[in-house]
Amino acid sequence: MCGIIGIKGNNATEKAFFGLKILEYRGYDSWGVAYPSNNGFSVTKKVGHISNSEPFSSGSNIAIGHTRWATHGNVSEKNAHPHLSMDGKIALVHNGIVENFAEIKKSLIEKGFIFKSDTDSEVIVNLIQEKMKSENSFEEAVRKSLLEIEGSFAIVAVHLGDDKLVCARNGSPLVLGFGDSYFVASDATAFIGETKKVYFLNDNEMVVISLEPKVFDISSGKEISFETKELTWNFEQAQKGQYPHFMLKEISEQSKTLNLAVEQPKEKLDELTSLLKSSEKIFLIGCGTSYHACIAGSYFFSNAGLHVETVLASEFQRVENFLNEKTLIVALSQSGETADLLCAIKSAKKKGAKIASIVNVMDSSLMRISDVSLLMNAGPEICVLSTKSYTSQLAILLLLAYSIAGKANEAKQLVKETASKIELLISSSESEMESLAEKLADKKNIFIIGRGEAFPAALESALKIKEVSYIHAEGFAGAELKHGTIALIEEGTPAIVLCTPETRAEVLSNAIEMKSRGALIIGVDSKEHSEFDFNIIVPNCGNADIISLAIPIQLLAYYLALKKGLDPDKPRNLAKSVTVK
Ligand code: G6P
Repeated sequence: MCGIIGIKGNNATEKAFFGLKILEYRGYDSWGVAYPSNNGFSVTKKVGHISNSEPFSSGSNIAIGHTRWATHGNVSEKNAHPHLSMDGKIALVHNGIVENFAEIKKSLIEKGFIFKSDTDSEVIVNLIQEKMKSENSFEEAVRKSLLEIEGSFAIVAVHLGDDKLVCARNGSPLVLGFGDSYFVASDATAFIGETKKVYFLNDNEMVVISLEPKVFDISSGKEISFETKELTWNFEQAQKGQYPHFMLKEISEQSKTLNLAVEQPKEKLDELTSLLKSSEKIFLIGCGTSYHACIAGSYFFSNAGLHVETVLASEFQRVENFLNEKTLIVALSQSGETADLLCAIKSAKKKGAKIASIVNVMDSSLMRISDVSLLMNAGPEICVLSTKSYTSQLAILLLLAYSIAGKANEAKQLVKETASKIELLISSSESEMESLAEKLADKKNIFIIGRGEAFPAALESALKIKEVSYIHAEGFAGAELKHGTIALIEEGTPAIVLCTPETRAEVLSNAIEMKSRGALIIGVDSKEHSEFDFNIIVPNCGNADIISLAIPIQLLAYYLALKKGLDPDKPRNLAKSVTVK
C-alpha cells in the first residue's frame, strides 16, 4: 500500500531506485523519485512498474522515492509521488490516508494555494510550506503540520537548502537503517543489502536525519532516546535467485518454512497455550488469506476441545460488545501492518482484551501491540499472494492446538513429516499443474468445494486462483452446493473437489452431483477416483492434510497466470500490505 524511501548518503538516487524496486510489492501503479539539484528539485515520475525502468545517478546525497497504490486520485503522473509544495521548495512522499484532507485543502486554497494533483498527500506538503512562514525550522513546520493531520501517515520530506530528511510515522510503517548511508523506508528489505542495523519508528514519532538521526515525539516536540536492533533476515532471502518469479520461489520454500514455523521458543508457546486455556472467550481474526487460516485454526482448536470464534478483522465491530479482560484475540497476519486488523486490535485492547499474534514481520505494528507473538520465521514474502505464510500460519495453529492437549512434540513431528512430503509434492506436481493450467486458462469460472478442514482450503484455493489469473473462482463448503451454486454448473464448468479421508465419502457425493450436470471434475485426494475427470494425488498428511491440499492449487494458480501472460508477482489492483481501511 505504497512504498516510501529516503536516503541520506552517497549515491542516494541509485539507492532510492534500488530500494523502490524491492518495495514495489506494496503498490506498483506508478512511481517517482526526487532529489535536490541546483535549480530546485529534480523529479521523475512514471506510470507503471519501476522494475521496467533503468536507474539513474544524480550526484545528490539526498533522495526520496515512492511506489504507489492509488487511493486518492487516479493512476497518473500528476498523482504519482513525490509531490512538491507550491513554491517548489519542499518535496514529500506519503503512505497512508489524510482523512481531513478536504478541509485542509479548502483552507489552503483560500490562502491562495494551487494544487496540481488530486491526492491527499499534496495537502501535507503545502501545509508544511504554509507553516514555514511562522516556524523557525523545517522540522518544526513538519511537526506542526502533522499535528493538524487526521488519519494515517508515514512521510519523508526534504526542504531545499536544508541538508536533512524529516520523516514521521503514525499508523503506517517506517523503519530507519544505519549503514554507510542513512535510510528510511516502509520496509527494511528496501535497504537490507546495505545494513541490518535498524530502528522501527513507533506511532507519533518523527526523525530528523541530519548529521545523525534524532528521534522526536510529534506531540511534544521533545527528543526521545531510541535503541537500534539487528535484523535477522538477509538480502538473499529478498531476491528471486534462480526462480523466474517470487511466487514460484515462495511456493518452493514451503518445506523449509514449515519446519521453521514449528520451532517456537518454548516460553512463548507455553504463554500462549496457557492464555488459550484460561481465556473465557477466544476470537481468531485476520484478513484475506490470513482469515482463511483462522477458519482452519478454529477447526484445529475444536478438535482439541476448545471453542473459538472466527471473525473477519474488518467485521470485528460486530463482536466488540462481547469483549472484556477475559477475552483473548489471536490475530493472524503476514505483514503485521494490515489496517483493518490493526483497527480491530486497537479497539479490542481498549476493552481490556489480551492480544496474541501470529505474524511474519518482526517488529511490525501488530507484533508491537501484542501481549504475546509467535513469529512465522518464513523470511520475506515478496509476491503479493500469500503462499508460504499461509502454510506457516496453519503449522503454528496446529502446534497450538496440539499444545493445548500437551502434545506439542507430536505436532512438530507431524509438521516435519508433512514438510518432507511437501518437498516431493512440489517437484512432482509442477508439470502436471502446468498442463492442467493449459486446459483451464480460458475458463470463465472455477468452483472449488471441500468439507471440514478442506472447506477453508477451498476458500483459500479460490482466492489464489482469482487473485493471480483473474478467473472467477468460488470456494464453498461441499454441502452448500445444492443450496444455490449448483445452478451455475453447466457443461464443462471446472469444479475442483478437495478431499480428506474423513470427508471423502460426502464430498464425493457432491462431486457426482456436479458431474451429473456436466461439470469437469478435478479431484485432489491421496487416492484416485474414477468419478474424477482429472486426479491430483497429494500425500496423506493426517491432521495436516490442509497443508498438502494447498500446494497443487498454488502451483495451478501460478501456471494459470503464466498461461494468460500475467505477472504472478504483481496482480492488477492489489498490494501486499494493505495499510488503509
Ligand atoms: C492483502 C494481500 C493478501 C493478504 C491480506 C492480509 O490483501 O493481498 O494476500 O492475505 O492482505 O494480509 P496480512 O499481511 O494481514 O496477512
